[in-house]
Amino acid sequence: MNKPDHHILVCGSFRNGAVSGVCNKQAAGLFQYLTEEAEDRGLNVMVSNTGCLNLCVHGPVVIVYPEGRWFKQVTEEVADAILDSLDGEVEVPEANVLAA
Ligand code: FES
Repeated sequence: MNKPDHHILVCGSFRNGAVSGVCNKQAAGLFQYLTEEAEDRGLNVMVSNTGCLNLCVHGPVVIVYPEGRWFKQVTEEVADAILDSLDGEVEVPEANVLAA
């Protein structure tokens, strides 16, 4: 495997070994959706789950590196916008940007 151009971290809501955070409740399938959509688009992207990012009030939370961009309230529609934004030509709606 080549080094990915982008690493997308999806909050997996893990806390002390249990899945319990709000992201899990509101983002069922988001990890799988991003993984499959990135593959369908032929993007050189790695998608990983994380533990709770302690930003549950903003969940579901997704982070994109190396840009260091944090996104909130990510739905499949927002996930599409995030993938569209990886080439820098499309912006994710400001309402979903947590930090850039
Ligand atoms: S469960 Fe995602 S930030 Fe806490």
